[in-house]
Amino acid sequence: MSPTPDFYQYDARPVAQISVEHQWLRLDWEDGAHLAAHALWLFENTVGIGTDVSTREGLVDPANLRLDMSLCDAVADVTGARIVVTFDDALDASFHTGWLHHVATGQHKAEGHLPSQVPWTTSDFSHPPSHDGGQILGASEALIGWVNDLLTFGVARLQNAPLDPDFGLRLGEQLGAIRDTNFGPIWDVRADVDLAGRADTNSTANTTLRLGPHTDLPTRETPPGFQFLHCIANETKGGWSTIADGQAVVDALQSEHPEHYDALTTLRWIFFNRGPGIDHRWSGPIIDLGVTGSPLTIRAFYPVRGFPDMDPVDVPRAYAAMKVFSQLASSPRFEISFPFTPGDVLAFDNRRMLHGRTEFTAGGRRHLRGIYIDHDDVRSFARASNRRRQPASSGGTI
Ligand SMILES: [Fe+2]
Repeated sequence: MSPTPDFYQYDARPVAQISVEHQWLRLDWEDGAHLAAHALWLFENTVGIGTDVSTREGLVDPANLRLDMSLCDAVADVTGARIVVTFDDALDASFHTGWLHHVATGQHKAEGHLPSQVPWTTSDFSHPPSHDGGQILGASEALIGWVNDLLTFGVARLQNAPLDPDFGLRLGEQLGAIRDTNFGPIWDVRADVDLAGRADTNSTANTTLRLGPHTDLPTRETPPGFQFLHCIANETKGGWSTIADGQAVVDALQSEHPEHYDALTTLRWIFFNRGPGIDHRWSGPIIDLGVTGSPLTIRAFYPVRGFPDMDPVDVPRAYAAMKVFSQLASSPRFEISFPFTPGDVLAFDNRRMLHGRTEFTAGGRRHLRGIYIDHDDVRSFARASNRRRQPASSGGTI
């Protein structure tokens, strides 16, 4: 059987009705799926001509497109697994009906094979969805179960994970490439406090201070997608982890305080990381909606919010909106809090969740190690894993 324009296997999805109309192939399936496929798109996806048989990547430079290309005929083969399309230059090209059906049902889209996001508040749960981390490395079913919760709720915890200081790296490497930053591929969160109570650090995270609801590295054009915090030791009092679903907070703000929602989604601030030899800066709104289809990106970390980047007349309402946003995010309605126990890995969507911690006393060791990993890598892992778990013929949604 000739290959599809990807590396997946498909079951046949016989087509109920086929018609050709100049440049368009129209297909209808008995389950109601419909596809209108343009001649140029079909040509680009003809394996061996428009798509390379080895890489399954496109070969057609748009400069060479023949824009008046049209179709003469289309017929199904006897098995129902293929449709053979005849182009106006007599080229016959064969397309797998399972592959065409997966496009007709939207499984090719960015959200394909990913669980839907579910916003939550404290009325839904008081602790993050939790999984056993003891044997998770190399355990693909356990790993994808945890990752699907992470994608659904934006937060998922492992408990009883090994105390190996590099466990976070090993875990992240199971999913994809670690997102390195000026803090290194794996970084420590611990109070570097001397006997006089001074912290020798350029990061508020490494003090004993409370950290209000925030997202890390809003100073970057694309802040890290996910953050994994692995607790190695905790002998201190306080220092509970706090987390709120930023999506739920944004939804509430939009319906209950539209004027603040408008200010937070449009007025820009300059964020910047100060440090010897570094100068990271980005300007953006607190609630960065990007373009249609972009994941929510909340830029909220007051320690690195430097300057208003807006008309001075807007500054008062920008502050008023931020105050309400931060109050909502840390309110009992939205924020859960829970202790960090050695062996915990708290994983969360760094661009959707608002995380923080309560103040703690530095009377003992408190040592977390963190990594970042981008949305792209976690989603790629989830799509490939979820696709494998589904029956090949389903073509449905998770
Ligand atoms: Fe943080």
